[in-house]
Amino acid sequence: MLSLWLDRPRTLTSDTFDLNAEYDTVVVGAGITGLATALLLARAGMKVAVLEARTLGAGTTGNTTAKLTMLQGTILSGLRRQYSQKIVNAYVEANREGQAWLLRHLEERAVPFQRRDAYTFAMTAGGEEQVKAELAVSRAAGLDVEEASDSGLPFSTRRAIRLAGQAQFNPMDVLDSLSADFRAHGGALIEGVRVRDVTGGNRPAVVTGAGTIRADRVVLATGIPILDRGLYFAKLKASQSYVAALKIPASTSIPSGMYLSAESPGRSLRTYPTEQGELLLVGGNGHQVGREASPQARLNELLNWARHHFPGAEPTHTWSGEDYQATNLMPFFGKMPRGGGKIFFATGYNKWGMSNSIAAALAISAGILGGQLRWAETIHRRITSPAGAAAAVALNADVAKTLAENWAKVTAAKPVTGDTVPGEGTGTVLRQGRKPVAVSTVDGTTCRVSAVCTHLGGIVSWNDAERTWDCPLHGSRFAATGEVLQGPSTQNLPHVE
Ligand SMILES: Cc1cc2nc3c(=O)[nH]c(=O)nc-3n(C[C@H](O)[C@H](O)[C@H](O)COP(=O)(O)OP(=O)(O)OC[C@H]3O[C@@H](n4cnc5c(N)ncnc54)[C@H](O)[C@@H]3O)c2cc1C
Ligand code: FES
Repeated sequence: MLSLWLDRPRTLTSDTFDLNAEYDTVVVGAGITGLATALLLARAGMKVAVLEARTLGAGTTGNTTAKLTMLQGTILSGLRRQYSQKIVNAYVEANREGQAWLLRHLEERAVPFQRRDAYTFAMTAGGEEQVKAELAVSRAAGLDVEEASDSGLPFSTRRAIRLAGQAQFNPMDVLDSLSADFRAHGGALIEGVRVRDVTGGNRPAVVTGAGTIRADRVVLATGIPILDRGLYFAKLKASQSYVAALKIPASTSIPSGMYLSAESPGRSLRTYPTEQGELLLVGGNGHQVGREASPQARLNELLNWARHHFPGAEPTHTWSGEDYQATNLMPFFGKMPRGGGKIFFATGYNKWGMSNSIAAALAISAGILGGQLRWAETIHRRITSPAGAAAAVALNADVAKTLAENWAKVTAAKPVTGDTVPGEGTGTVLRQGRKPVAVSTVDGTTCRVSAVCTHLGGIVSWNDAERTWDCPLHGSRFAATGEVLQGPSTQNLPHVE
């Protein structure tokens, strides 16, 4: 599936990967985190290269809904259940700085964005309690959140709260602008180079499929980290959620704000102005990566919901994206453990990466350049709450159970034969001897690849919406041909004869 944002002519030409070039910092990943970090370092006079495995924005940033808001569903009350108000305030401060920095950048460079009010709404009694809690914690953190008697939504809600004057944009406009500014400061942006490993030392070696380069520092801005140091893959839940851009007939009115429901399955709404009129974007129905029998059914359910509430809605684009929730709900950013102070990373934005990414970029660049940010210190000094520790234990127990169950299923699966050809757009896991084999047919081509995830051995499952093989353990995703699309894995699924 191709997002509304990525469906446009490319303006970027990749720089050449020069193995002899000397860089102060190599940033891995050209999403919003990587580009903002790279720009901040380049502006400070550093020689910086960004290495991107695929293309600019191909990860989550090109598949987001791109609301830049300080009212983030029910995030603050969730954090408050685990931490003191002081830590919640530090999170708010981080996001406030991230939001302000990005809006200033967009204003200075005349990148279009729209000011919109943000809403969190509830449709159930449980949701109503969550909304009330969010209102209280937001106010305690100094945000001007208020009760909204009329949210503008075309269905009844039990309660809604509003924060005025937030923003929305096209995330690819933002990445284009960040990358142009970065290059104007001497940065190199190299696409099509996947980093396979980073090995320690005073000047870490960045190992890629196209050769190895060294730099004083390395920043992993790859979504989930591609290195297992610090075991962050075991502290993050990878979730996939869906978005549809919809043309709405003139007879149906569109709400003008940016919305998120308090309850699950989530319902997210915003508009997008085009020359042909406003599109409505509807998102939600997230689930853990690789754990749904039919992702397409989740997308269909979302489309049916949208058509029910917005009669005549016709999709122009549908897509999905993957993001990561930390078990203790706080994003991770800064120095990676056992990286000798030379490897930095950021992850776990819990679907609020538009401001958290910039906050992480500000903190990482300050760390590299020798500065300090008070909110970052406060967040780093927090103590993991009992609830966060319990969530990590539960997540890993569940991962171990899924691993064992899926291997048992494969052992009982049918053996693959020469004439095994799944129907168009479908895939199945079979076995060849004791080896699990993933067989799929896409655009008339049948591929057989190993069904064993190259990260830590999970059995991949077929995603009928994206036509990919997805790992249910830590969220790696692979093309039908076996090519790795999203980490933590860095190696393709090998072909099987
Ligand atoms: C459906 C959806 C809706 C969302 N809506 C919102 C919203 O409204 N507001 C909000 O604030 N947030 C939202 N988010 C979250 C936000 O989009 C993300 O948190 C953010 O885009 C993450 O940016 P990133 O730069 O960290 O990661 P990415 O954009 O994923 O960038 C990582 C990059 O690293 C590259 N990479 C990975 N591995 C390697 C490797 N080994 N070598 C080289 N390159 C590599 C990838 O190809 C990718 O381009 C949403 C997320 C989803 C999924
Ligand atoms: S992503 Fe970790 S085992 Fe597949």
